[in-house]
Amino acid sequence: MIKRVLIVDDDAWVCDVIARILVKNKYFVSTSPSAEHALELLSISTYDLIISDMMLTGISGLELTSRIVKEYPHIPVILITAHSDTEIMRCALGEGASDFIPKPFNIEAIPMLVERNLERHSLAQKKQIKIDEDLMFSTVYALAGAIDAKEPFTAEHSRRVTSLSLSLADAMDIPSTEKRCLELAAQVHDVGKIGVPDFILNKPSKLNDEEWNVMLLHPVRGSEIVGRVKQLSYVADVVRHHHERIDGSGYPDGLRAEEIPLLSRMISVADAFEVMTSNRVYRENCTQDEAFQELRLGAGSQFDSEIVETFIRINSEEPAAFA
Ligand SMILES: [Fe+2]
Repeated sequence: MIKRVLIVDDDAWVCDVIARILVKNKYFVSTSPSAEHALELLSISTYDLIISDMMLTGISGLELTSRIVKEYPHIPVILITAHSDTEIMRCALGEGASDFIPKPFNIEAIPMLVERNLERHSLAQKKQIKIDEDLMFSTVYALAGAIDAKEPFTAEHSRRVTSLSLSLADAMDIPSTEKRCLELAAQVHDVGKIGVPDFILNKPSKLNDEEWNVMLLHPVRGSEIVGRVKQLSYVADVVRHHHERIDGSGYPDGLRAEEIPLLSRMISVADAFEVMTSNRVYRENCTQDEAFQELRLGAGSQFDSEIVETFIRINSEEPAAFA
């Protein structure tokens, strides 16, 4: 993909010379005579790298760097400087400058300098994304632990549902990006139960209507909690619909068949199976075969029939994924 470079310098000759060598090296180049104009361009166009003179009239190159780093942290800034003053360079690095082009400059060296900074910045960004993702996963796992802690009889329910859902995803050839969403959604599918009083969650007898109404709110509450985390907003929809039914009689929105997100339909089957095969406060668990039979009974009304068949096939071939 062609990279876009913005050159900011009030000396038209400097802009022209640098633009020529970069265009020759297959970059797409724009030029700007001032920081003010450059900021306008940045608000309407995207750039991969900025080269700016340090000594601009009006907003200085240093201040421009600082604003770009704050507002467009994904764009590296290289400063053109007449100074070889270490203190000024240190100050520019402190503002977030990526590199320098000292004057008088060696024009032939500029494409390599640009390439090196693009590469370095891209690696740093990938590293940051990985750190953010790890942090997000740790937060999600901590949330899942908090839900399970509220229901001692269903300890590790979230982890088991996640494991079952992921083996289902493998069998269904779900793409890896969707699998990440599935993993996160399965981990937190019941996070809305945080708002359900313990006496309802752990009631040994059947819930009355009033208690059921509180319980029925958990997918909506869960999706609201998850949706507040910007990086998890794509997971919120899957959480909201994990109790919908194929025939439209589920909750909270009464969605039917393929109106229900595929990942929610998958979690629904894994969730039901896990609940049936683990001990609950209100009933004993059933065997794997009995649970398969229940899933088949619900196929086409509660559950997606194809997902049920795939689930039974993969879990009949080997012990259930969490066993
Ligand atoms: Fe649930």
